[in-house]
Amino acid sequence: MWKPPERIEFTPDPGPWPTAKEARASRLFSPVKIGPVTLEQRTWIPAMVPWRATGEGEVSQDVIDWYARFAKGRPGAIVIEATGIRDIPSGPLLRIGDDRYIEGLSRLVEAVRKASGGHTRLFIQLIDFLAVRRRPAKAKFFESHLAITDEHRAHLAGESDAAIRTALAAMDDKTLRDVLSDREFDSYSRGYRERVTDTHLPHVADLPEKLPAMFAAAALRAKRAGFDGVELHYAHAYTMASFLSALNTRTDGYGGPRENRVKLPLEVYRAVRQAVGEDYPVGCRMLTEDCIEGGSELADTSWFAMQFAASGMDFISFSRGGKFEDALTPAPGQAIYPYTGPSGYECMPHYISDERGPFGRNRPAVAAIRQALRDAGHQVPVVLAGGIHGFQQAEQYLREGEADIIGMARQTLADPDWFAKVASGHGSQTRQCKYSNYCEGLDQKHKIVTCQLWDREALDEPGAPLTPDGKRRMVAPEWTPPAP
Ligand SMILES: Cc1cc2nc3c(=O)[nH]c(=O)nc-3n(C[C@H](O)[C@H](O)[C@H](O)COP(=O)(O)O)c2cc1C
Ligand code: SF4
Repeated sequence: MWKPPERIEFTPDPGPWPTAKEARASRLFSPVKIGPVTLEQRTWIPAMVPWRATGEGEVSQDVIDWYARFAKGRPGAIVIEATGIRDIPSGPLLRIGDDRYIEGLSRLVEAVRKASGGHTRLFIQLIDFLAVRRRPAKAKFFESHLAITDEHRAHLAGESDAAIRTALAAMDDKTLRDVLSDREFDSYSRGYRERVTDTHLPHVADLPEKLPAMFAAAALRAKRAGFDGVELHYAHAYTMASFLSALNTRTDGYGGPRENRVKLPLEVYRAVRQAVGEDYPVGCRMLTEDCIEGGSELADTSWFAMQFAASGMDFISFSRGGKFEDALTPAPGQAIYPYTGPSGYECMPHYISDERGPFGRNRPAVAAIRQALRDAGHQVPVVLAGGIHGFQQAEQYLREGEADIIGMARQTLADPDWFAKVASGHGSQTRQCKYSNYCEGLDQKHKIVTCQLWDREALDEPGAPLTPDGKRRMVAPEWTPPAP
């Protein structure tokens, strides 16, 4: 992962912990309404892909064990990982693109309800993404991936297409930059990737026609499976965030000025709302800033948030960055990963940072958007995440009106009992996330995600699920509250 050149090391310091009485009186542990449902506390586990679904995208026992473990900590809400709205093979990532997924998802809902004693609300993140191929070996790319065009023929006049392929494969990268188009060079050096601007591809051109109904059908399945609400994934490197991005230059009315870029996200939301009804929580996860050159900035995203609030969304959860455009070049055989460049750093900041540090990095941007929403009379609850790990820190953000709900992703991966421990006055027993991004490295390699702080602990504990190689436990060890 890219790290800021300043390379300043930060050590998370959660500060003092509250007594159980102080926790009860805190804002963090006070209820908040998300549309028609109430969260018992303002705590939220944002979506995290753990690579545990079956190869068919179904809920596996490992998925159930993973979320039931989080539920034991009784946060206000858990958002299930980005779940694909299409029924297309996508490895062990959850899918909701067909009715046959409902049964497994219902079991997941049931398991979370039981493990949290009914105290945690469960949302699911709905995602659409475009094709991303692994970076091919150079010989393979020129042998079969590249379509030979008249531009190549003009460069290598008189040669057959087969001879052109051989000649290109023998060129160094400097020469190839001149001979190939920018897009071809990108596919060669980073792997082929579809963009929302690829309107020459019929299935990309018709995204505005297809996606509203697909998201709506997925949301209805989520409702039927028993989820308390849905989160539309409008963040990071995926289809909907790419429509919102200032880099979206589509000329069909869905790109260019921000009024056009927000059109599809609003159409998707309205279709979802119509499918699930007024009394069902629907919100989105979006970016405060794209954090890439030419991407959307606060003025755009603040305006988008305003449109979403005005159209009736029940919550807005904010992230930042996480884009393909500035991601590091993958090795041949690997796929590009949107969290490896500077924008990826903004999304999941590491403990080695710049003077701004990794803790609460999205706070000023979220606070500014929330203020703009309130000034316009919108009361939509706003979720802030990114490097939050201490009670005082969370409480301060809430008290200063910078957010309504606190999201903690890696901190709860490090310690799923964080909420139960802090609420009961046992905050000093929390396991502190180091922000080392070992977990994110596993995600990048499409490996089962665990935390380095507990995955080698008590491997011989009866019933502890282990990774197929037997080297890592797959869920955090249990916590037994001290006797009163
Ligand atoms: C392993 C892993 C998987 C993630 N998967 C998702 C995801 O599916 N959807 C999403 O919106 N964010 C995802 N994220 C980003 C987190 O939700 C969160 O925004 C980010 O980690 C910053 O918050 P934190 O500092 O509390 O961890 C993932 C993060 C990690 C570490
Ligand atoms: S591996 Fe554990 S300690 Fe490291 S960043 Fe992830 S959750 Fe935190």
